[in-house]
Amino acid sequence: MDIKGYLKERAKEIDREIQKRLPKGIPEKLFEAMAYSVMAGGKRLRPLLVLESAKAVGMEDWDSIMDIAVATEFIHTYSLIHDDLPAMDDDDLRRGKPTCHKVYGEAIAILSGDGLQSYAFELISGIKGIEPEKLLKVINLLAHGTGIYGMVGGQAADILHEKENSFNDIQFIHTHKTAKFIQACCEIGAVLGNATQEERQALSNYGLYIGLAFQIQDDILDEIGDEKKLGKKTHKDREKNKLTYPQIYGLEKSRQMAQEYIERAVSQIKDLKDPEILTQLAKYIINREV
Ligand code: IPE
Ligand code: IPE
Ligand code: MG
Ligand code: MG
Ligand code: MG
Repeated sequence: MDIKGYLKERAKEIDREIQKRLPKGIPEKLFEAMAYSVMAGGKRLRPLLVLESAKAVGMEDWDSIMDIAVATEFIHTYSLIHDDLPAMDDDDLRRGKPTCHKVYGEAIAILSGDGLQSYAFELISGIKGIEPEKLLKVINLLAHGTGIYGMVGGQAADILHEKENSFNDIQFIHTHKTAKFIQACCEIGAVLGNATQEERQALSNYGLYIGLAFQIQDDILDEIGDEKKLGKKTHKDREKNKLTYPQIYGLEKSRQMAQEYIERAVSQIKDLKDPEILTQLAKYIINREV
């Protein structure tokens, strides 16, 4: 199967669903800045993982869970806007465009990130067609994976290493800043697709392993990737004293480690009803150039 083509098609579909759900309001500048960053592009991996995980355990129709998929992209975009701020990674280019703070200023960029995050939870908690108990579980998983015990914790650790060398555990950093959110997306899909306990655990493990491989590949692409394709500046991590896999283990060993995580991920999901897409997607993660 042509997984690259499949992912492109799905990303276009998700783009349309995101567009429909973009919030409008006053001050216009704030809403414009949110839309600017969300619609700048991106692989739409996290919403896709919500949808494909639900499908892998037997869900056929995605309509009822699309708000949740879109909400994950709002949260992801918030994380990118804040990650690029001068106080953090200080990047000028994201998704092939000037970063949010370059266009709208730091204050509006910070608030756009804040806004996207809280709006994501507003969107999910306002869904009518899903049992409240299930929605609460989704909200809990998403908040946990992206908050202080997940992405926010990892981003803090990343910055503490960079600025004061006071945090040196790369496994902690990569697990928290990237893998836990990706893991949450897979587990959310499982919950929404009425997975059994074993299926849910399998998808959760799968998410953690592909998440780690995803960040290793991100580190690798910072060293050898093509800026034009990536839509972001390369060779930033060494310059900024970031803790990365290539820096610690070298490129070859890093590739090998990412490959091992992908093998572990794939073996987790082999007994699911429909593991094909997730299997191909996992393999694509370490072959991607974007
Ligand atoms: C970039 O995420 C930040 C990381 C966690 C490595 P993506 O590589 O998913 O970025 P987009 O959404 O495709 O722009
Ligand atoms: C970002 O890691 C992780 C996030 C939670 C946003 P990076 O800082 O390496 O991501 P890029 O390389 O800027 O996309
Ligand atoms: Mg960063
Ligand atoms: Mg960054
Ligand atoms: Mg990076």
